[in-house]
Amino acid sequence: MYPIAATEQLSPNVTRLVVEAPRIAQIRQPGQFVIVRLGPGAERIPLTIADTDPEAGTITLIIQSVGKSTTDLVALRPGEAITDVAGPLGSATELIETGHAVCVGGGVGTAVILPIAQELARRGVRVTSIIGGRSREWVILEPELAASSDVIACTDDGSYGRPGFVTQALEDVLAAGDVDAVYAVGPVPMMKAVSELTRGFAVPTTVSLNAIMVDGTGMCGGCRVTVGGKTHYACVDGPEFDGHQVDFAELADRLTTYRSFEQAALAKAEACKIPALAVKADKATVDKATVEPTR
Ligand code: NAD
Ligand code: FES
Repeated sequence: MYPIAATEQLSPNVTRLVVEAPRIAQIRQPGQFVIVRLGPGAERIPLTIADTDPEAGTITLIIQSVGKSTTDLVALRPGEAITDVAGPLGSATELIETGHAVCVGGGVGTAVILPIAQELARRGVRVTSIIGGRSREWVILEPELAASSDVIACTDDGSYGRPGFVTQALEDVLAAGDVDAVYAVGPVPMMKAVSELTRGFAVPTTVSLNAIMVDGTGMCGGCRVTVGGKTHYACVDGPEFDGHQVDFAELADRLTTYRSFEQAALAKAEACKIPALAVKADKATVDKATVEPTR
């Protein structure tokens, strides 16, 4: 069992969950993720680890509630627990050691950018973070990113920061000619647009692919993506890849595979008012907790 230590709502549908997972907190590296299962019979959900506190033994997950499973997860409160947290999974982000990096976060993808920006800054790299949301209340983690980078916040409707998409701000930063690497995480159209833009400036670009995942160990093939004309599995070969090589059209198409099932499950849960699968974290259960699977 993995007890919830704290929760915080960051935007209308994005929540920060701080979860007790001491072994994962000690060994996780930026870019890695966990697969959580709220309770018996619940869906397995891959979530990037946004932050860790090894001393407190906690990991931070930032979750966008889009379906029944994620709605159940963000309904958890301190004292309740998640049954399974498997990880850390995936490869750590390959980061530059010197120069100027630009981290681009779209919506909840900003949560994935945060640990990358923090680690780049720790290495002495100059970091510019460009983060975007539909409007002011959808811009998340600006204070946390400001601690390790220069932040340019953008809103689609111009209600806060620079008006327009993150790509418009990125184009201006790239035009200065001193950018050594770009790391971009967000909606697929955003990562595609960022990669097309940086290709013109010949700037290496890393994107994090939010492919559908089931086992997270390279066995099921659910997270198959095409990069550089070859098949890769996002869970074990990624989730980060060279944005200039990714087949974004295929990724976008595969992400729609279960959409009608997800919509039906959410509608059914709302109609039946099915309660969340929250599990109380009693001490005896926590003491008998299984070891987190790692790879
Ligand atoms: P959103 O649709 O509100 O977009 C966020 C920002 O991205 C916008 O404000 C804009 O600046 C930029 N953007 C969107 N479309 C763009 C385009 N066509 N060109 C240029 N910029 C564009 O984001 P949301 O609702 O928060 O959704 C976040 C998405 O990120 C979800 O689809 C989620 O699956 C995905 N995600 C991906 C990862 C990952 O690892 N790749 C992790 C978390 C979330
Ligand atoms: Fe099954 Fe990657 S999630 S192969």
